[in-house]
Amino acid sequence: MLSAQQTIGNVFFDNQHPSIGDCRDELLAGLRQSQKTLNPKFFYNEAGSKLFEKIMRLPEYYPTRTEVKMLQQYAGEIAEVCGQGGVLIEPGSGNSEKVEYLLKDLKPSAYVPLDISADFLHSTAMRLGDAYPWLQVHAICADFSQDWQMPESLPQGNRLVYYPGSTIGNLDPDDAVSFLNRVSDWVGNEGGVLIGVDLHKSEDILHAAYNDADGVTEAFNLNALHSINPLLDANFDAENFAHKAFYNQDKRRIEMHLVSQSSHDVKCGEDVIRFDAGETIHTESSYKYTTESFSDLAERAGLTRKHGWVDDDGLFSMHYLTPA
Ligand code: AVJ
Repeated sequence: MLSAQQTIGNVFFDNQHPSIGDCRDELLAGLRQSQKTLNPKFFYNEAGSKLFEKIMRLPEYYPTRTEVKMLQQYAGEIAEVCGQGGVLIEPGSGNSEKVEYLLKDLKPSAYVPLDISADFLHSTAMRLGDAYPWLQVHAICADFSQDWQMPESLPQGNRLVYYPGSTIGNLDPDDAVSFLNRVSDWVGNEGGVLIGVDLHKSEDILHAAYNDADGVTEAFNLNALHSINPLLDANFDAENFAHKAFYNQDKRRIEMHLVSQSSHDVKCGEDVIRFDAGETIHTESSYKYTTESFSDLAERAGLTRKHGWVDDDGLFSMHYLTPA
């Protein structure tokens, strides 16, 4: 068991013990709506996280590859724009793979990875502390969507929040604005936000990225049912559902659904959820933006787009935002 706070060389570990909470109420509330919904965070059990790693390597899934290429290409320029020597904060840092492309150029005084998974965070923090002896790693185990404490012992210097992967695309625009508002509070008036955002593009490319030929995305979507079964004491049978992903042109978002193949009941502990044939569970939205529409969104959160990057094929974007 990891203690609450622990320092090993240049690595400081602060476990703020995020309450995983009882997701039963949240899950049932979503499944009782007329359009049944499931929060995409439930994709990421162990099997789901492995499937997502596979998705990121698919030929059809351009975002990861494109963002990494941009980081390699623009790291120097990004450092010039965002400034060196600050405190770099990454919510949902996972294995901190992408931030590594920036460390050499950004030379932050401290790196603050924030993640809900303590073991994962701990091993990543140790790896980075080892690889970058000059870097102070201040890992915080917390649920960044809830309350967490910014450590008091952080070095002075401008704060930069790094939020790659177009993770913001999961949020409906109003929620994305609230999220950016909170992020803006973390960094204060002198700080900034570096964020990766997937771009609106031809429907063919988008469709292929979420309907890959090997069926990895299909397996990822269906796995959500395996993931929630133990949480709900439910008997969802993935055989009764089919993967569906399409681009909603109006809302400029990919929608992923699980389509019930028959009229059937699913027992969730004491409760029963009824499905008609063809009825769906909306499992994920992935919003796509233009540089314009993302600037506007940031503006609504009181942030100004100071600088941005788009890859040569116009697939993916990165933006540097500062409080207006
Ligand atoms: C992690 C939300 C950026 O929307 O592309 C990939 C998740 N879902 N394939 C995305 C995802 C299906 C991904 N994000």
